[in-house]
Amino acid sequence: MSKINMKAVQFDTKAIHAGYHRDSDFGALASPIYQTSTFTFTDAAHAMGVFSGEIPGYDYTRAGNPTVRAFEEKIAELEGGEDAVATSSGMGATGSALLGLLKTSDHIVCGDTVYGCTDVVMREILPTLGITTTFADTADIAAIEAAIQDNTKIIYFETPTNPTMHVTDIAAVSALKKKYPDIRVIVDNTFAPPPVQYPLALGADIVVHSVTKYINGHGDVIGGVVVGNAEDIAVIRSRAMGKICGTPLAPFNAYLVIRGMKTLGMRVRRHCESALALAKYLEQSPYIEKVYYPGLESMGKDYDVAQKQMNGLYTGIMAFDLKNGIRGMSAFDAAKKLMDNLSIPAIAVSLGDPDTLIQHPASMTHIKVPKEVREEIGITDGMLRFSVGLEDIGDIIADFDQAFAAL
Ligand SMILES: Cc1ncc(COP(=O)(O)O)c(C=O)c1O
Repeated sequence: MSKINMKAVQFDTKAIHAGYHRDSDFGALASPIYQTSTFTFTDAAHAMGVFSGEIPGYDYTRAGNPTVRAFEEKIAELEGGEDAVATSSGMGATGSALLGLLKTSDHIVCGDTVYGCTDVVMREILPTLGITTTFADTADIAAIEAAIQDNTKIIYFETPTNPTMHVTDIAAVSALKKKYPDIRVIVDNTFAPPPVQYPLALGADIVVHSVTKYINGHGDVIGGVVVGNAEDIAVIRSRAMGKICGTPLAPFNAYLVIRGMKTLGMRVRRHCESALALAKYLEQSPYIEKVYYPGLESMGKDYDVAQKQMNGLYTGIMAFDLKNGIRGMSAFDAAKKLMDNLSIPAIAVSLGDPDTLIQHPASMTHIKVPKEVREEIGITDGMLRFSVGLEDIGDIIADFDQAFAAL
């Protein structure tokens, strides 16, 4: 265990040291990778003690592993939660949280714009288990209240939304729990990880992450995590992650994530600074119809709420619509041409990597969301989503200059 009092130090110190347990055999500075499926016991009494929980220890990596635990302790500290359970993907985190906490006949109020696979879980899969969902604009408290039923157990949302960048007031939604004490608020914080946004401090009960994104930050791991109070996490760990889903994070991936998180603060601040500069550049461009980025005043209410809860950092992700009619092209054709003209961004889904990524939500991440729903929530056919990487922002802007000129 680190000697540092984590409550007394700043984010970047925590990001490096939280979760660290000194390796008792050799004193390795980096967390060792306990690449093992099972654990041995010194004798029968030891085995019985660990299995009964009387002796601390590990018995099987699906249930727990020291490398994975080091990551869980680090992210719990950074998010300000009591505990965390790591999963093999972001969807594993969302699925485990929902299956762990819900039962047949329960109801969810879900943000109307969520990651495509989350949308499919709510819209198509959970109803087959008797768990229903009403979608609502979570930026509108009255719309949430209108959607709440007697059996509502969870309000689930992303902020900012993917890819439309609308911002939900986490404190205002969490305040509804006073009136509806059976409801838990779950925030997918993938787009605005610490040090940007702290949903638990704003009153939410649970945070989920696709660790695949900023938390790992190097584009080489699929992972997820659920952070919350110790009681909820124990239920999610034993009931859903460990048994129904059986989706633990692998020890090697946990090691990579721990390594990635040591630079989380530096990386995220740089992603956000570059994204704000790019959003301002794009907003001035004669080729652009609209830029969706919560750090722009033109986002109106989203900008106002972002000022309250995003620590002046916002996110590294934005979306934009090209204008219709550029050299006679539709916005959709111009978007396709722009993707091909740009040389720095890779055409790929995912986000939060060192590499800048560009994708077309209507035909990629959100292809499974019905077209009429996409239109209703503002995902236009010509919209592009951009994850600003850690390359030099001057180079990224110069790349746009040449790509626009060649449209
Ligand atoms: C906001 C958000 N949540 C969850 C996920 C799912 O994460 P994963 O791909 O790690 O399962 C994604 C993936 O893109 C995402 O963007």
